[in-house]
Amino acid sequence: MKLLKLKIAILAIVSCAAGPLFAGELLPVKNCAWCHGTSLQGFAVAPRLAGQRQQYIVNQLQRFHAHVRDNFYSRNYMWAAAANVGPELARELAAYISSLPPEAAQDGPKELVAEGRTIYEMGVPDLNVVACVACHGPRAEGVRQIPRLGGLSYYYLQRRLQQWQQGFDAAAAPMPRIARNLSPRQLDALASYLSYVSYGSFER
Ligand code: HEC
Ligand code: HEC
Repeated sequence: MKLLKLKIAILAIVSCAAGPLFAGELLPVKNCAWCHGTSLQGFAVAPRLAGQRQQYIVNQLQRFHAHVRDNFYSRNYMWAAAANVGPELARELAAYISSLPPEAAQDGPKELVAEGRTIYEMGVPDLNVVACVACHGPRAEGVRQIPRLGGLSYYYLQRRLQQWQQGFDAAAAPMPRIARNLSPRQLDALASYLSYVSYGSFER
């Protein structure tokens, strides 16, 4: 019932803000679901959006729009998808998307999970890698502009950390500096651990 009301609210917003992308029968969330999958749980190269932090989503839509998030996948998929999403629509989409309950991907190699958890909670002092828990939270749930990481897919998490090491998305402070010193194995371990973190009951 709550979901239905939200959908109606989104429809109302769209009919006021009918930009070229969302004109006619193209509803924005349906449009996003073509790539991001049913209930926005992620599909193929497009990450899960459901349950992601509202402020983080707004920021990312703005950064795709401004072509600041510049890796291959952002360029080829999200620059066009965000081209006609203005600040108002971004906020409304983010409010709706962040309210959808996330499902954990649970797809990383199991033998790396324990090592990943240790790095997540303690960092790697010898390599100057800060503990992720300090910002992303004890259950990798994120807060405000810091994204929820728990349950994102192994492949997506791995790719994001690798892209920062390669110099893409360089404005996403503080992540390029934090990802820089991770070894390939440490990076894989973190991505694997995080793919299994789920929330029981969904906490906002
Ligand atoms: C053509 C396919 C496609 C469409 C349509 C699409 N997306 Fe995406 N989206 C992607 C891909 C691929 C990525 C991953 C980009 C990257 O790796 O940098 C992404 C990433 C994102 C992210 C960043 C997620 C994160 O965890 O950092 C957000 C937010 C997002 N999309 C929102 C939307 C919204 C809202 C819509 C609908 C208006 C939408 N997308 C439509 C393919 C798409
Ligand atoms: C000082 C705070 C801080 C610490 C410590 C930190 N992060 Fe982040 N992280 C952020 C912020 C802020 C963002 C969002 C950056 C942006 O706006 O694009 C982020 C984004 C991310 C993302 C992108 C998620 C997505 O949906 O695309 C990943 C993956 C990530 N961090 C992993 C890690 C890992 C792994 C560690 C530990 C090795 C870590 N972070 C430590 C603040 C932090």
